[in-house]
Amino acid sequence: MSKADWGIVGMGVMGTALSRNFARQGYQLALYNRFLKGQEEQLAHNRVVQFEELKNAFPFEALAPFVNALSRPRKIMLMIAAGGLDSFLEVLLPHLEADDIVIDGGNSHYLASIKRTALCAEKGIHLVSLGVSGGEEGALLGPSLMGSGSSKALAKIEADLAKIAAQNSKGQACFVSTVGPGSGHFIKMVHNGIEYAEMQLLAECYDFMRSALGLSASAIGSVFEVWEKTSSKSYLLQISASILRENNTAGAIVDQILDQASNKGTGKWATQAAIDLGLAVPLISAALEARYISSFKGDRESFSRIYNVNKLVYEDQNEVIEQLKAVYDFCRLINHHQGFELLRIAAQSYSWELSLSDVARAWTAGCIINSTLMEELTDAFQTADQILSQPQYAVRFQNQRENLEKAFNRVLTALVPMPCSAAAWHYFLGLIQKESSANLIQAQRDYFGAHGLHWKDQPEGELDHGPWKQKQ
Ligand code: 6PG
Repeated sequence: MSKADWGIVGMGVMGTALSRNFARQGYQLALYNRFLKGQEEQLAHNRVVQFEELKNAFPFEALAPFVNALSRPRKIMLMIAAGGLDSFLEVLLPHLEADDIVIDGGNSHYLASIKRTALCAEKGIHLVSLGVSGGEEGALLGPSLMGSGSSKALAKIEADLAKIAAQNSKGQACFVSTVGPGSGHFIKMVHNGIEYAEMQLLAECYDFMRSALGLSASAIGSVFEVWEKTSSKSYLLQISASILRENNTAGAIVDQILDQASNKGTGKWATQAAIDLGLAVPLISAALEARYISSFKGDRESFSRIYNVNKLVYEDQNEVIEQLKAVYDFCRLINHHQGFELLRIAAQSYSWELSLSDVARAWTAGCIINSTLMEELTDAFQTADQILSQPQYAVRFQNQRENLEKAFNRVLTALVPMPCSAAAWHYFLGLIQKESSANLIQAQRDYFGAHGLHWKDQPEGELDHGPWKQKQ
């Protein structure tokens, strides 16, 4: 029997789709799924029978023959839930040899990936952290891939991963890699943080048009379809338009869906990581908290009876929709600024050599946040590594300043909750103040806790104190 090029572990939805993708690219595969009596039996074998592309793959449910079926150094992609990863590595590692490469394609926390990389390295085994975006369809037709690990391991897998990755409109592979442990999963986590805010911004526009303009779901879907034909084009906008226009005999499907959103934790991780790095990600945390608030359905129902507010109603609908779009576009730019800042600062702090342009390129197709803006950013990051410091965005803002100010003033006073849009605006306003109000914060801390302060003419060095205590 010839040896397989790649081993794939986990024949769930994502593992199966990714295996089919590899097989379509001509790779010889060994497929493994554990045996769990009555629950998971003969899964790898069933996939081989079920899918034409997999008919030449070798199926296993015992680890030793699976590992033996692979050419060396072995390349094993793990597509299993992050919760089961440590126990699986414990049983897998004794079967492996130095220089073998294990790729974690799950949504693992980057700190856990860093620890696992060190654990594998003790045995000379390379662990690659691989963020995979695009869901089942992406995994099958071409996902966006974000990998990191040792340069030796990356050199052996990069070409293969670029082959199975999505190709963007310029024919470039949506694959980015960085040398260093954990960064692949960090990049995927930031992707998801940006995704949370992109989704919430759309939900806020939907709510505004529903509550303040009284538009039906399908009418809002039509507005989104119009936006979709502009530079606001994105995958999330497109699916939102299509969701809103979906009906059954009871009316719009979206109106029949419970208004409570859950999450699997990556938005929380992104917020926590930013806080730990001393960085503000107000749109990501606002989006996460909006999901949390949505889950308090009982409170919302009872408070809505006590605190009834009269939402503003607008007559000049077309003008307001234009203003809403201006707000939406600007908030998206700020969302991307904030997300890429998280990457930039993390790369500095963990000494990752990260090209923001390459990350943006990896996100131009195959992933949930692909958009026309992302294509634009791929070029923009070649000249400056902060979105707000790039001349074209500054010029665009100056040209639109008056309209934008009016639009924000209008949209944010409609008494419709728009926490992510408001966070974007105030984060932006905060960033462009030469004088912040933190002088008063310094004084307060010093007054009540003698924490010390810096004077304007002595911004660094030893802390001094204000005169307040002498007066008491
Ligand atoms: C992707 C998605 C994917 C998934 C999230 C959902 O890039 O394919 O981001 O990872 O949709 O896990 O996360 P929440 O359940 O937290 O919304």
